[in-house]
Amino acid sequence: MAYADFYTNFHLFMRWLHVIAGIAWIGHLYFFNFVNVPLQGALDDAAKKAVNPKLMPRALWWFRWGAMVTFLAGLILFTMIYMYTPGMGFGPSASFSDEMGVTGRGVWILMGMLLGTIMWFNVWFVIWPIQKKILSGRASAEELPALRKRAGLFSRTNTYLSGPMLFGMLAANHYSAINGATLIVFVAVSLAAVWVAIFHAGRVGQSV
Ligand code: HEM
Repeated sequence: MAYADFYTNFHLFMRWLHVIAGIAWIGHLYFFNFVNVPLQGALDDAAKKAVNPKLMPRALWWFRWGAMVTFLAGLILFTMIYMYTPGMGFGPSASFSDEMGVTGRGVWILMGMLLGTIMWFNVWFVIWPIQKKILSGRASAEELPALRKRAGLFSRTNTYLSGPMLFGMLAANHYSAINGATLIVFVAVSLAAVWVAIFHAGRVGQSV
């Protein structure tokens, strides 16, 4: 039985790492939004003080590091698939572009990656800094509601964006067809996701 070459093995390992880290990240995102928000609303202050210091740091650790590993493995995958050709070296590969320009696969992954990167940015540069401030007790009582609302807004936005983001990830390799209409639908659904998140989070004002 022949063994696959290093590129093929490493490629599959990166795909596995990317998806398993993505599960850890998006799984915690859904837990925060669909399970924890209603739970926190049902707990009184004493129960929150007992539960949250044990729950939140651990859940946020898996959440943010899941996001980081997903992102880094995703960039490695992008380089390996779209910016490298085995035997030829680095540069746009046939998966990324042909004589007609960027391929359908290339367009889908660029759109999926754009949304994934926005989501990763929201985790590391908005949600986590706010949560760190709240958990460390450095936020004043007056600041807390606004901080929770902002974290909740970005968390909800990421939750809704995960739908079109994952569609882009999967469409790259398993669909590829692209034209003006599919592009418009994709962009419209992504904008609608952000709009619903802002509208909904603004109304209920929940935290992460
Ligand atoms: C954070 C930024 C992200 C980047 C830069 C990124 C990048 C990539 C790349 C380059 C591919 C390969 C596409 C191809 O085969 O043509 C891919 C596939 C994929 N990604 Fe992402 N991704 C990101 C986020 C995510 C997230 C959050 C998930 C959630 C689970 C995810 C799930 C997937 C899946 C399921 C595939 C398809 C695997 C397959 O068909 O074998 N990605 N991603």
